[in-house]
Order: sequence, then C-alpha cells, then structure tokens
Amino acid sequence: MEVVIVPDAVAGGELIAEAIATLVRRKPDALLGVATGSTPLPIYEALAAKVRSGAVDASRARICQLDEYVGLPAGHPESYRSVVLREVVEPLGLGEQSFMGPDGAAEDVQAACEAYDRALREAGGVDLQLLGIGTDGHIGFNEPCSSLASRTRIKTLTQQTREDNARFFDSLAEVPHHVITQGIGTILEARHLVLLATGEGKADAVAHAVEGPVAALVPASALQLHPHATVVVDEAAAAKL
Ligand code: GLP
Repeated sequence: MEVVIVPDAVAGGELIAEAIATLVRRKPDALLGVATGSTPLPIYEALAAKVRSGAVDASRARICQLDEYVGLPAGHPESYRSVVLREVVEPLGLGEQSFMGPDGAAEDVQAACEAYDRALREAGGVDLQLLGIGTDGHIGFNEPCSSLASRTRIKTLTQQTREDNARFFDSLAEVPHHVITQGIGTILEARHLVLLATGEGKADAVAHAVEGPVAALVPASALQLHPHATVVVDEAAAAKL
C-alpha cells in the first residue's frame, strides 16, 4: 500500500485527478468507479477543470457507482445515482449512457445486487476505484464486520453512518436504513484502489485501516490485501499515523 500525505483536500483532489487523467490518456474507455460523500468533490472539480481546459479528453470514459440507497424514489436528489450524475457525469460532459449503477428502487433488491456485480465484470472490470472512508472505517457501505470476501449485496446502515449522512437530508428520519454496496471482494477486484481521506474526523479510521491488522471490523483495512492501493490523506487525517 502506498500512502501519500498532502497538505490539504485541494492538493489531494488535484493529485488524484491527475492520476485519473493519466489513466484515461492511456486507456480512453477506462471504467472509473466513483464514490459519493463530501471527500471526493475536489477530485471531481479538478478532473472537470482538466476536461474543460483540454488537458484530457474523457469523452470515452465510463463511470460506475460504488453504492446506493435502497428505497429512495427515482430521481430523488440524494440517491447516489442522482449525486453521481450531478457531480461527476455531467461536469465531465458525459451522458447517462456512460454510467452504470445498481438499481436501488428494484423490487428484487438481491437480484439487482447480483446483476450489478455481474455487469461490472462484463464491462471488463473497474480500472480505478475511488474510495472515501467512513468514520467507522467503512468503504462503500460495507459497515464494520462485513466479510472481506463479500460481493455486491444489501446492507443495513449503522446508526453512526445514518447520523454522518443525515446532513444530506432534511432530517435523520429521512436517511434510508438499507443500501446496496459493492462488496469488499468486489471492490478488491478493481485494478487500482485510490482512497482519499481528509480532516481530523478521519484520523482514527485512517490509522486503523493503514497500520492496524486486516480485520472485518475495519473494512478499509482490506486495502492492505490489494496489490495496487493508494491512500491519499491530508495532514489532519494523517495525524494518527
Ligand atoms: C458514505 C459513502 C462512502 C463515503 C462515506 C464518507 O457512507 N457510502 O462511500 O466514503 O460516506 O463520506 P464523506 O466523504 O462525506 O465523509
């Protein structure tokens, strides 16, 4: 695992955006796995700026989702589908045909999970998967004690994660209890994993993930098992390393 400490979130975003641009120059139809939450926004802003300036042509890139809430009505502004379309796909000048994600509104959620896991493989696999980290060490929505071999499936959110994510909704009561997430085993199949963590609130989770034992209790520690994992942290998130 490679750990890169950067001064702040903007520098982390720029560094990772350049890594994505380098990948897309080499492989124009690369499949980019994207994460939601606040942390990756500087990456998307830096990457969109590179596209606008002509520094990289991302017009053939493909985008896929890491996770999704279950049960939000289609088109809900906080469904991760809506978030990824708004924050990544549109700013990069791509259309919905460049994008794939699990169907959080499916009647048969388990079938939707299996279909998405299969679709990722059939698409040739994820070239670069961006990850954030939850304060409890989760990646995607793989909460502590998720199997390190897990596939895309339905999960129940912990109270901590629902509280962390309540800021995107009008109230805690509106935060869904259930989600679809790529499993840890699914995530580990991506060719390159890039985790960005910023701010002191992530310092404990980062220390456990990077320097602690590989354990289901800290899902992000699974990155230690991956042959090409990069963890980019700002100084605040690196404080306990
Ligand atoms: C959610 C997402 C994760 C993300 C995490 C941290 O739980 N499912 O993919 O990493 O939030 O979000 P933030 O970056 O806003 O702290």
